[in-house]
Amino acid sequence: MEELANVDPSDMAAMVASFPLMLKATTLSNEFLSEAIRIRNQGLDGICIVAMGGSAIAGEICKEILADSSEVPILCIREYILPKTVNRRWVVIAVSYSGNTEETIAAYKEANRRECSVFVLTTGGILNQISNDLRKHMLPPTFQPRAALPIILAGILPLLETLLNLEITNLPKLSVELAKKAAGWEQLPRSPKEMAHLLKGKIPLLIGWRHLIPVAYRAKCQFNENSKVFASISQIPEIYHNEIEGTRSCIDHPISPVFLRSQEEDEKTKMGIESAAAIFQENGCHPEHLNLRFDSRIEEALGFTMYLDMVSVRLAEILGVNPLSVERIAQMKRRLRD
Ligand code: PA5
Repeated sequence: MEELANVDPSDMAAMVASFPLMLKATTLSNEFLSEAIRIRNQGLDGICIVAMGGSAIAGEICKEILADSSEVPILCIREYILPKTVNRRWVVIAVSYSGNTEETIAAYKEANRRECSVFVLTTGGILNQISNDLRKHMLPPTFQPRAALPIILAGILPLLETLLNLEITNLPKLSVELAKKAAGWEQLPRSPKEMAHLLKGKIPLLIGWRHLIPVAYRAKCQFNENSKVFASISQIPEIYHNEIEGTRSCIDHPISPVFLRSQEEDEKTKMGIESAAAIFQENGCHPEHLNLRFDSRIEEALGFTMYLDMVSVRLAEILGVNPLSVERIAQMKRRLRD
């Protein structure tokens, strides 16, 4: 895709700004989709996505988006091993942007041993070498895995929708809508830069509800990897049963709760969030309510993701750290290998 070739892979801000473009950067081939239809027609008991880090999050987001429509369970596994329930009537989707992640390769091999129907999404590496061509989709390379989230999602979502016999999301249309929304964010009172300033010196606590739970997790990872800061997550309604009690120690810790507010919230959820926020406030924390207006569940999930990606890059700029380098992750991978 020509426009994507102009995106500088050494500029994280540019990659985040290209999020909408990346959503239409890959198209599954007819052969690959025919294979998915063939497996669907044979019948399947579940779908298990195996991936780590930046490659895993697209699967988590798709799982939540499809939660109301999928008639079979969708699991996202970040592990070397598969749950016992995953057997030959399951589809396994192994996703590794680099193709060299040892946990994903181990789970891929295990899925083959169990005679599951295994699909692969990658840009190369070992996974490319060892996988079946018919069920492999090559993603556009060049970017860091976490920056490539929209590209990975553009591979996983239509594959899942095909396997589940659901309407295929119009990603080019979504890309246009998202680009329009993002163009207005700099004018918001809580622009990404303003939000980054608010979070400076704090521990962001990202709080999501339903399809915004994996988005909160993604944002935590982006604060870790891009901004090199510690961050935490929670979810509605679970937070009412634990973290809320911990607010007693808010005064000693610079926690900054950020509630990701969905257009789909019902009255009970709204009331719960407002009550939780009030308890944070009373205990000395100042919660932020992030209200970004989107037209669909998937647009909301991806829009929040892009916005928070931008915040993490702006925070990196403010803190004077390089959002691209992941020295400690590379060191960890070397230690695991040696
Ligand atoms: O964002 C990153 O760079 C990491 O979280 C990687 O995604 C993670 O280490 C897994 O690698 P890969 O996505 O190549 O399988």
